Amino acid sequence: MSLSVLFATSEAYPLMKTGGLADVSGALPAALTELGVDVRIVMPRYGDLALREDQTTEQVARLDVLGQPVDILRTAMPDSGVPVYLVDHPTFSARQGNPYMGPDGNSWHDNPDRFALFARAAVALATGQADPDWLPDVVHANDWQTGLIPALLHEADTPKTVFTLHNLAYQGVFDRSTFERLGLPWSLWRSDGLEFWGNMSFIKGGIVFSDRITTVSPNYAREIQTHEFGYGLDGLLRHRSESLVGILNGIGSDWEPETDSALVATYSSSALEGKQTNKAALQKELGLPIRDDVPLIVHVGRLVEQKGTDLLIQALSMLGQRDVQFACLGSGESRFEQALRARAEADPERIAVRIGYDEGLAHRMEGGGDAFIMPSRFEPCGLNQLYSLRYGTVPLVHHVGGLADTVTPVTPATLRDGTATGVVMSHLDMNAILWSIDEFSALFHRPDNLARVRQNAMAQHYGWGASARSYLALYRETAIDEPE
Ligand code: ADP
Ligand code: GLC
Repeated sequence: MSLSVLFATSEAYPLMKTGGLADVSGALPAALTELGVDVRIVMPRYGDLALREDQTTEQVARLDVLGQPVDILRTAMPDSGVPVYLVDHPTFSARQGNPYMGPDGNSWHDNPDRFALFARAAVALATGQADPDWLPDVVHANDWQTGLIPALLHEADTPKTVFTLHNLAYQGVFDRSTFERLGLPWSLWRSDGLEFWGNMSFIKGGIVFSDRITTVSPNYAREIQTHEFGYGLDGLLRHRSESLVGILNGIGSDWEPETDSALVATYSSSALEGKQTNKAALQKELGLPIRDDVPLIVHVGRLVEQKGTDLLIQALSMLGQRDVQFACLGSGESRFEQALRARAEADPERIAVRIGYDEGLAHRMEGGGDAFIMPSRFEPCGLNQLYSLRYGTVPLVHHVGGLADTVTPVTPATLRDGTATGVVMSHLDMNAILWSIDEFSALFHRPDNLARVRQNAMAQHYGWGASARSYLALYRETAIDEPE
């Protein structure tokens, strides 16, 4: 029997992306489609969705959501052709730019209203009220923005629900008056419901009410059940541990150095010359001295505490006499953006910084870097270390979350047995970052060892196929569950 799945997400590459959730929401449904699953995405129709010019959208339904008209449009993902339902309402479609915050960097004040409305529209789709021709067996919701979907569907036997935690630090917590304003059933206002220390929590909707919970690496699935990483939800997650599983993310087909059109030269593990060409081109693009005898360490990501940006900035001011180059592409908290710009101005021979969001440059950084540093305080999965492995760009990572699951430290033993893929910091502070830079520099100046680590890294397979098969098995198991 073919399985049908409604995949609910607040962003999906290439239509809208702020981070890894979009990569997952673009690639996983495509991989599931290849396995024969009838998967359809539902997401908000933001003002500037990256639809192709020739792409059509067709209206499927006009819903009445608490007295407001909401249109459901249908289109397809530009590359994969996966069907997409767009929830069209002015609080989404009349705004440009980042889907969660305004140009001033503050969250939109009506985010709970917008995402509650989105959840109600998704529930209408999930129960055949919006598109009567299609009824999913499973609804797969992602992160707090979709947390109300499992809560609202809880009363029904079908469809079943799967909820994925991409990042427990973002919970969608709002005050009690918000709960009242949203017109949610009072049966949800309880401590084993949406209530969270007197407030309402969107993410609890997903954790409490979904049939299965997943997160994006096995290690993070363990970590979030501890006080240190549980953000106040570890008790609840321990309570639901039998329904919680970690499934590692994969790499989409657009992250492949053999075919990557963003690179100046494509390359593969058996023909690595292209990597040098990319390095020189990247140094030129960023205004760094063009040298092949210096390690070029790169970083791409959101500039926030999660990613250890503050510690990285400290380390960059303590480089001393180290002969290394560092390139950073990111956007995020303005204090970090300013501090990074200042570092680059003070040390232009070694440090280059680009503030902003640039998909092409992110690819060229992976292609041209010798190493990629991720000093994350926590990291549910992390995609850039996976891209780095694929691109032979040695990952320097903190031993947490998905980083610990995917990078094997370089030691004499792992160099011998062919498993070494990166430099792993067992704890995290500024000195650990400097240590990782020194470890990598030493490796860089031992070309035989560096080549070995690169080969090991590039031989890793983190495609979406295996992850999609795990999700499919989980959907099947969930779909045949008897109601309790
Ligand atoms: P997170 O989702 O926590 O931000 P991930 O490592 O899972 O972290 O995914 C981040 C994704 O966003 C990667 O595809 C990365 O290349 C991309 N990305 C982050 N910041 C930028 C940026 N400034 N420019 C281009 N791509 C970026
Ligand atoms: C989150 C996490 C990141 C993960 C991504 C996709 O944004 O921070 O670690 O890779 O979601 O699952």
